[in-house]
Amino acid sequence: MLCAVVVSVNYRLAPEHRYPVQHNDCFDVLKFLDDDENMSKSLPQNANISRCFLVGDSAGGNIAHHVAQRACEFKFKQLKATTATIQSSTLAVDVSKMEFPATIVVVRGFDLLRDWQKRYYEWLKKSGKEAYLVEYPNMWHGFYGSQELPESKQLISQVKDFIHKEVAR
Ligand SMILES: *[C@@H]1O[C@H](CO)[C@@H](O)[C@H](O)[C@H]1NC(C)=O
Ligand SMILES: *[C@@H]1O[C@H](CO)[C@@H](O)[C@H](O)[C@H]1NC(C)=O
Repeated sequence: MLCAVVVSVNYRLAPEHRYPVQHNDCFDVLKFLDDDENMSKSLPQNANISRCFLVGDSAGGNIAHHVAQRACEFKFKQLKATTATIQSSTLAVDVSKMEFPATIVVVRGFDLLRDWQKRYYEWLKKSGKEAYLVEYPNMWHGFYGSQELPESKQLISQVKDFIHKEVAR
């Protein structure tokens, strides 16, 4: 069995706090965790910071992408952000030359951002990145929050499988 430590991240909100403060706040979490002293104070001893997965839904999906991109360009001591899980569209710079992590992209049929999400997935593939597309034609933005839905459970287990697969590499 694989145990995971979940770090729930908050960030300052617009309009009082303007973009890109939200990206900075989330990236600072990685820096914080990469600091030995801070990590040992805040995470259980067996947490392995070199297996770090970034997950985001909606606006958080966009942030996860940008944090992953920044993580590619930053020299951490130990932290390795292996994977980003994205559920939102994003405008992005060229990642083809970056070691951008494997990504699972979740698209919902009843989501206004559907076409952007698909384009994001296609763009990752075109950039030579490992990307997986998971589609839920009858679902809507944020559906997985309704935990009574079988699709919600299915999505969670798909993400879990993805993480297992990446850790096993
Ligand atoms: C470690 O934690 C201290 C106290 O919270 C903080 O001031 C410092 O910035 C943290 N280090 C990093 C690298 O984030
Ligand atoms: C932490 O994870 C990395 C990458 O999967 C692995 O190489 C390393 O052995 C792990 N460290 C520990 C202490 O389990």
